[in-house]
Amino acid sequence: MIKDLVKRNRSYRGFDESFKVDEETLTELIDIARLTASGANAQPLKYHPIFKEEEVKKMNSLTRWGKMLTNMTLPHPGQFPTAYILMFVDTDICKEPKNADADLGIAAQTIMLAAVEKGLGGCMIANFDKEAAFEAFSHKPNHRPMLALAIGKPIETVKLVDVNEDGSTKYYRDDRDVHYVPKRKLEDILI
Ligand SMILES: Cc1cc2nc3c(=O)[nH]c(=O)nc-3n(C[C@H](O)[C@H](O)[C@H](O)COP(=O)(O)O)c2cc1C
Repeated sequence: MIKDLVKRNRSYRGFDESFKVDEETLTELIDIARLTASGANAQPLKYHPIFKEEEVKKMNSLTRWGKMLTNMTLPHPGQFPTAYILMFVDTDICKEPKNADADLGIAAQTIMLAAVEKGLGGCMIANFDKEAAFEAFSHKPNHRPMLALAIGKPIETVKLVDVNEDGSTKYYRDDRDVHYVPKRKLEDILI
């Protein structure tokens, strides 16, 4: 059921590094994203699958994780993802990359849901060094890196909880490293 898939599709920031996500799997995920909706059907998105050890290492060094958890640096050592899909906007197709944000979200969520269905998981990462990623991974000057999808075999427990008592939606961890994600209640978002 789609709701179960959405519930399981959490942002994971800890992975089994011995499980390597391969090129075929990433290509399959990109092929699914290819079929998603796109404003004016322009399809301005391009994708670079990152699975080679050196490229994964490079991308790991450019990404910033869980910035609300100021008392720790994530992923913990030895728990990095083993693959990424780096998403680009082709400015030959969409001149202003921000105009492709909705397309990016739709494609990214579709990829993450498909990954979860395969027993994988990951995290969307907008907080990464885009200039360095452009240098390292752009094949053409018109390919602008926008969003990185980290993918791997999650090893952490992530729990959905109600919005915090003080009304904040700040995520947090307990002393066993369980990650809690507060979500607003249905009655608070129905208007
Ligand atoms: C567009 C977008 C960008 C994100 N960028 C980052 C990021 O740079 N680093 C990170 O650790 N998490 C990132 N996240 C994950 C969010 O922090 C996460 O979705 C939120 O805490 C709720 O957790 P959940 O995905 O398990 O519901 C991003 C999520 C979205 C949708």
